[in-house]
Amino acid sequence: MTRIPQQLVECMAAARQVLVVSGAGISAESGIPTFRDAMQGLWSRYRPEDLATPAAFSRQPELVWQWYQWRRRLVADAQPNRGHQALAGLQNCLSTMMLVTQNVDGLHQRAGSKDVIELHGNLFENRCSSSACGHLEPNTDLDATAPPQCPHCGSLMRPAVVWFGEALPEAALARARHGASECQLLLSVGTSAVVFPAADLAWMVKQAGAVLVEINPATTPLTAVADFVLSGPAGEILPAILRALDPEPSDGAHT
Ligand code: OAD
Ligand code: ZN
Repeated sequence: MTRIPQQLVECMAAARQVLVVSGAGISAESGIPTFRDAMQGLWSRYRPEDLATPAAFSRQPELVWQWYQWRRRLVADAQPNRGHQALAGLQNCLSTMMLVTQNVDGLHQRAGSKDVIELHGNLFENRCSSSACGHLEPNTDLDATAPPQCPHCGSLMRPAVVWFGEALPEAALARARHGASECQLLLSVGTSAVVFPAADLAWMVKQAGAVLVEINPATTPLTAVADFVLSGPAGEILPAILRALDPEPSDGAHT
């Protein structure tokens, strides 16, 4: 069983605000491949960098659409895991916890986390590819093999996610940065911490003198500067943190 250092438990309990930044690794135990894992099955001959770009969508909209439809079906068939659930539990037992995610899979919300800040958008929404229009709607059809047309302007609809080379949603990034400036402790979970500006949040917190905690079975650029490194899967470590902070939950959670 994972042991959580007592000093970390005390830091977390004392923090007025905790910021959690999650990445694809937290969904790995739900069966969703991370970005830097090899692509699977049909898609193994592509690199995400060759599909997740505005240029790829203009060149081959159907190919890009089909890749997203595959990912949507994978996520729709998956379930949130113990890591997602423990984070939802932590939000109830810490004084203020802000959850910022780079993930587009919605699994935090399905596990019960509230007010999740999505830095890279959401797989289950589509946005008009004409930036002048920007019409946004939920994606309802997981089988369509080509992108639908915008009901307002007739341009192609695209997944409402951030692609390589695109700016992050301004309001989400501003809230995340504000959270980083206010928090006493940042928990970086399941992210390779190499994609900016998301990775900047941890460096901002470190520079401000707050506590940096990393949960990841592998090392990242943050490992050397983190105050606590919990090396292992999020699905084991996060429930252990929750148990250490809240050994006797009134609702019988995390058994
Ligand atoms: P990556 O695929 O870069 O990194 C996943 C991280 O999760 C790695 O550091 C793994 O070691 C770690 N990991 C794997 N299994 C784990 C587990 N069970 N528990 C904890 N950690 C585990 O994914 P991200 O860091 O999320 O952006 O990638 C950041 C961004 O790069 C993505 O949001 C995406 C991509 O380009 C966009 O699409 C804009
Ligand atoms: Zn439109």
